[in-house]
Amino acid sequence: MAYPINRMRRLRRSESLRRMVRENVVPVDNLIYPVFVVSGLDVKLEIPSMPGVFHFSVDALCKEAEEIAKLGIPAVLLFGIPATKDEMGSEAYSPDGIVQRAVRSLKKAVPELVIITDVCLCEYTTHGHCGVVLGGEVDNDRTLELIARTALSHAEAGADVVAPSDMMDGRVGAIRDTLDNNDLIHVAIMSYAAKFASAFYGPFRDAAGCAPQFGDRAGYQMDPPNRREALKEITLDVDEGADIVMVKPALAYLDIISDARVSVDVPIAAYNVSGEYCMVKAAVEKGWLDERRAVIEILTSIRRAGADMIITYHAKDYAAWASNS
Ligand code: PBG
Repeated sequence: MAYPINRMRRLRRSESLRRMVRENVVPVDNLIYPVFVVSGLDVKLEIPSMPGVFHFSVDALCKEAEEIAKLGIPAVLLFGIPATKDEMGSEAYSPDGIVQRAVRSLKKAVPELVIITDVCLCEYTTHGHCGVVLGGEVDNDRTLELIARTALSHAEAGADVVAPSDMMDGRVGAIRDTLDNNDLIHVAIMSYAAKFASAFYGPFRDAAGCAPQFGDRAGYQMDPPNRREALKEITLDVDEGADIVMVKPALAYLDIISDARVSVDVPIAAYNVSGEYCMVKAAVEKGWLDERRAVIEILTSIRRAGADMIITYHAKDYAAWASNS
């Protein structure tokens, strides 16, 4: 039955009608807010390439975490910027490393906040790669041990979820084994399963000081044109024991999120990355976009594609808008 019997506009006549038939909304409950921790005391420094995002020292981060929890955001994803780097990224798995200290303090300050830690070596190595460099290449199997050690040290500090972002083969299984052998069976793994070698990480690499000093990450992160391969990565990670799988970035990869949603039963997270955030911020600064409308539309599109959870730098703004509407 077509026009004039069928008139699609009937259900668009008022905001209440539109609300009634709305298929997707983004609950604050499903947002994860990324935070950056640095050494020092009372530090809160805006990151130049990411307006509205800050480097916090552990004490300042605890105050920030209270605010995050008050806004109703259930979880943070924690990134560490160490005071020193070396060839093997040893600060990543030091029991007194920056992330380990931050986790212990956060758990005391705001016990209800879910602490997810990014597990990778690139912020900690002098060469800026995500693993052990041997003969000019990142060695997969030698990296596994260090990645598992890093995850273990985060879990021992009290992390609820560890999130490996290095893209080495076999790391989810290696982490699960290590955690289980150390009686940390309750700690969950959120794997960056389909993580693409993307231009949209540019601002983050400035923020975390982790740009590779030679070459690029194309030898371990996924090639952007590949859709089938992403499903294989996701399935492998689920088989190795991932509790949550992530697609990253989000906006240029909505098809991957949608594929993942129908292919596996574990929760899917999508990472609305730094470059996606900065594009909005820059356009808003120029007066070219309405920030609130653009952000809601972007986050809703990621949800509509099939993401259960969204990791986003917009989380605090979005939560504040949601509580005032
Ligand atoms: C570390 C890591 C990166 C991001 C998250 N974890 C950078 C990279 O892989 O180069 C990117 C996050 C963002 O852009 O917001 N491996």
